[in-house]
Amino acid sequence: MIFVVNRAGVAMSRLSIISGALLLSALPAAAQQADPAIGRGIAMSACAACHRVEASPDGPSPNPDAPRFADVARMNSTTELSIRVFLRSSHAAMPNFMLGAEEIDSIAAYILGLARQ
Ligand code: HEC
Repeated sequence: MIFVVNRAGVAMSRLSIISGALLLSALPAAAQQADPAIGRGIAMSACAACHRVEASPDGPSPNPDAPRFADVARMNSTTELSIRVFLRSSHAAMPNFMLGAEEIDSIAAYILGLARQ
């Protein structure tokens, strides 16, 4: 089996296992690499205008309505899935991001990691 596949290849092989794009987007991304360091980088450029992305130094979010990611990480309702679903849906207070599945998984991995700091 070949593991090095492009994005379309990953999607196709997943599609052959389960049908339905909605199911596909909510499933754990076993074939993808969620990298918290990449997630941090994306968050610093795409989210830091409103959110406090890093746990330290401590301080408020630039936009007081936007929760600090460390606080998001500690909320009982926060799971990898909840972050993924949130970033795939549109929100009045947030811009709609064109993020790929791997980018979303990496952001989720980064945010969840903040709960352990
Ligand atoms: C223009 C400002 C703005 C930007 C940029 C922004 N957000 Fe937000 N975000 C908000 C606000 C305001 C809220 C709180 C209101 C809400 O939940 O919609 C929020 C809420 C959230 C939540 C909390 C969801 C929950 O369960 O309560 C998460 C997670 C989140 N944002 C992630 C992100 C990520 C990841 C990015 C970057 C890819 C981002 N946001 C960029 C303004 C922003």
